[in-house]
Amino acid sequence: RIAYVNGRFVPHRDAAVHIEDRGYQLADAVYEVWAVMDGRLADAEGHFARLERSLGELKIRQPMSRRALEMVMREALRRNRVREGLIYLQVSRGVAPRDHAFPGDDVAPAVVITAKSLDRAAVEAKAAKGVGVVTVAENRWGRCDIKTVGLLPNALARQQAKEAGAYEALFVDELGMITEGAASNAWILDQDGVLRTRDTNANILRGITRRTLMDVIAETGLPFQERPFTVEEAKSAKEVFVTGAGSLVLPVVSIDGQKVGDGAPGPVATRLRRLYIERAR
Ligand code: PDD
Repeated sequence: RIAYVNGRFVPHRDAAVHIEDRGYQLADAVYEVWAVMDGRLADAEGHFARLERSLGELKIRQPMSRRALEMVMREALRRNRVREGLIYLQVSRGVAPRDHAFPGDDVAPAVVITAKSLDRAAVEAKAAKGVGVVTVAENRWGRCDIKTVGLLPNALARQQAKEAGAYEALFVDELGMITEGAASNAWILDQDGVLRTRDTNANILRGITRRTLMDVIAETGLPFQERPFTVEEAKSAKEVFVTGAGSLVLPVVSIDGQKVGDGAPGPVATRLRRLYIERAR
């Protein structure tokens, strides 16, 4: 495997950043993940737009133009022979002697890109079975709308899910409402047959998959509301699923060990997965 690090393609095992990279020391960095389907970036535009927004919110300079980034990313896919998989892009504020406040404008942002292949058939086989999730108390910072690498709470939540034999953890706020997954947005088909995902404020990431799926749903004419839901509503929903570049649209068949519906992926989530993949690829 080959990684891109600050202007150079290097063997993955030798790819390293400086010990005083602010991403490493302070989580002062943002990232994006695109699904790669048929060799192309899924939802390319949305992820670039969110990257630019995340950089802007943290006042990190654009490391290069969108066109230049796209060229480097295409080259990363080519060198790694990725046609089906994921591409990861991280931008940190750069390397500077440790100091909490930002360094001067002379410090250039640091860019890292990695790409990996996925076995699409295996991924689809997993989606056809559905996945389990666990709920965990929301303990992240107040700006979950910025896609930063400050992911320790997310990593701990995912580990908790893994130890419970589940795929994803869903965060629950102090009102008992599900905010989102550790690396996905959460949806239900409620008992009235209405598709729901919570509205976007600082508490969740504005998922690009979520956004595109909303457009897909509008075309189907299925009832939809941008409205939060409780853990209880999720547990008693007809269907539950999560969305994200890594999950696409993934049916959830259990929550905290309790079956959702009859414990099998529902027809709506299954159909939306197919429609999303058709749209994004
Ligand atoms: N995660 N919420 C969180 C906290 C996320 O980290 C992600 C994506 C999403 C879904 O966003 P999108 O549809 O734009 O991928 C929601 C990526 C895939 C990751 O961290 O690997």
